[in-house]
Amino acid sequence: MISSEELINKAREAMNLSYAPYSHFTVGTALLCEDGSIYQGGNIENASYGASNCAERTAFFKAVSEGKRHFTAIAICGGPDKNDTDFCPPCGICRQVMREFCASDFRIILAADHDKQIKEYTLSQLLPESFGPDNLIS
Ligand code: THU
Repeated sequence: MISSEELINKAREAMNLSYAPYSHFTVGTALLCEDGSIYQGGNIENASYGASNCAERTAFFKAVSEGKRHFTAIAICGGPDKNDTDFCPPCGICRQVMREFCASDFRIILAADHDKQIKEYTLSQLLPESFGPDNLIS
């Protein structure tokens, strides 16, 4: 079993995959699948800003496009200063993408460089009263 610290290190490593020439806000993620595999993602910006993709969704779409459907946790690292990251909570769109594939106890781990602090939430804590696949079943 991989530890939170190891998953955070993978997320920190994934900051090198970030393409953020416009915001210079670098984000890296590491998504842990139920089978133990890990998918890393960086944010990918675009000259047409709205076409940009967050690091969380990059990791999810990489994994889902490889056939993965069951996820345990995601670690997220990011900030305007690559070498002194602050907590970077997932945006609303990314939370909704998580909601599509993850159970309510899916773990979201945020790490900040200073003091090696960690914050951990479940998906249902960050997205209460959510709309998901089960709402579409009549
Ligand atoms: N971003 C992420 O990749 N993940 C988040 O959780 C928040 C924001 C990206 C989007 C954009 O490339 C940059 O950070 C600034 O918003």
